[in-house]
Amino acid sequence: MPTLAVIGSQWGDEGKGKITDYLAEDADLVVRFQGGANAGHTIKVGNEVIALHLLPSGIIREGVLSVIGNGLVVDLEQLKNELAMLRKTGRSGEMLRISDRANVVLPYHRLLDGAEERARGNKGVGTTGRGIGPCYADKVARAGIRMGDLLDEVYLWERLDTIFPQKERLAQSLGIKLDLEKASLLRTLLEYGNLYRPYITDTSVLVNRAIQEGKKVMFEGAQGTMLDIDHGTYPYVTSSNCTAAGICNGAGVPPSAVEEVIGVTKAYTTRVGAGPFVTELHDAMGLHLQNVGGEFGTTTGRPRRCGWLDMVVVRHAIRLSGMTSLAVTKLDVLSDLPTLKVCVAYEIDGQIVEDFPASVFRLARAKPIYEELEGWTAASSKPADIIRKGYAALPKNMRKYLDFITTSSGIPIGIVSFGKGREETIDLRRRTWSR
Ligand code: GDP
Ligand code: IMO
Ligand code: MG
Repeated sequence: MPTLAVIGSQWGDEGKGKITDYLAEDADLVVRFQGGANAGHTIKVGNEVIALHLLPSGIIREGVLSVIGNGLVVDLEQLKNELAMLRKTGRSGEMLRISDRANVVLPYHRLLDGAEERARGNKGVGTTGRGIGPCYADKVARAGIRMGDLLDEVYLWERLDTIFPQKERLAQSLGIKLDLEKASLLRTLLEYGNLYRPYITDTSVLVNRAIQEGKKVMFEGAQGTMLDIDHGTYPYVTSSNCTAAGICNGAGVPPSAVEEVIGVTKAYTTRVGAGPFVTELHDAMGLHLQNVGGEFGTTTGRPRRCGWLDMVVVRHAIRLSGMTSLAVTKLDVLSDLPTLKVCVAYEIDGQIVEDFPASVFRLARAKPIYEELEGWTAASSKPADIIRKGYAALPKNMRKYLDFITTSSGIPIGIVSFGKGREETIDLRRRTWSR
């Protein structure tokens, strides 16, 4: 049963898009299972750079069925724009399938996202403003519209009748106007229903059948473990389960369906939005990582906060998702630094802490305990040499850095990425899944 999951082990933007695209060469299906257009997954193919928000990264590869699972929240307009962008690149998007059970981000969800952020004042989460939180809140409150509903005018009208009064009360309490107009929203939703009709289906049936037939199925995570609604730095998190556990609910597959879990880990740490970040660097080194790493959000363009690699975070992620190996990305960004630091534990109120604490209050007092490692020069890690010779061509100190991560994490490194392109990748996995 060849299935594989790609999960972010930090605060998102670890390079999941690149790694998913790289692995999708061998895949039959790529399935997204949570999140929405808050994600920004960048893929570089030759000179082409493609940023995907809702579409699974498999859409770039010919012949790969790309599934938007029931666990997503779908922004109808964003999806239309993304499909148009894809067509401009000469790809059809025909291999897309959308779950009939995925919830729909409605125009008022974006407005509520903004209003709720403003109401939080200086305690804002720093959301992407894509309506994600309000849409998931409606899902749980049983006040959502699902993709399948867009195909049924009578039922949709009935749903809007139930939902609108609730929204009106909420808007009033936040002091905003939502311009709720039932007939025009209904028209818009039905139009989108027609547009997406060919893609909407029971994707749980589709994915489970594919697994049973022995097809190669990949699950592509969005965001990262530390943004998980249960296990992240709550309340500075997103509103879905970003760990591997989210796959079961969000794709409609049993736990036994997830065989291999690759944790994508940036060689340092970044975070966009508010919330605790123990290894954050507020100095020139932080700016260096931001500039060299091009650390600006794919979705919002915001600068990403940068800091050293935090193994307390990575170990938390490995445990929660049962990660079987790591894909370490952006190693090239750490070139030419004399020394590198890796956080191995925190000190909080005089105590050594190795397991990630639940309370952001405690985290605010956490001091990183670092191990120092020697750096390497860019000249000693020429991509052409590495591509030809593989792991052995990596500079000695880069290998030491990777060895340190392996020892500290307790799981092997399967993939090493040292550039944006597909070819700037070394694959060290036992070839169980691919090729
Ligand atoms: P995702 O959200 O996890 O898919 O990551 P993003 O696409 O938001 O951000 C990762 C950024 O790093 C993208 O611009 C990628 O093209 C880029 N990237 C991925 N892997 C590497 C790498 O190994 N080296 C460098 N320099 N850039 C990389
Ligand atoms: P990918 O898939 C990084 C962050 C936001 C904010 C918090 C909540 O590209 O890794 P939301 O809009 O989800 O309610 O915002 O989560 N966030 C991300 N940060 N990468 C992402 O996705 C993110 N998606 C959401 O910045 O702090
Ligand atoms: Mg991203």
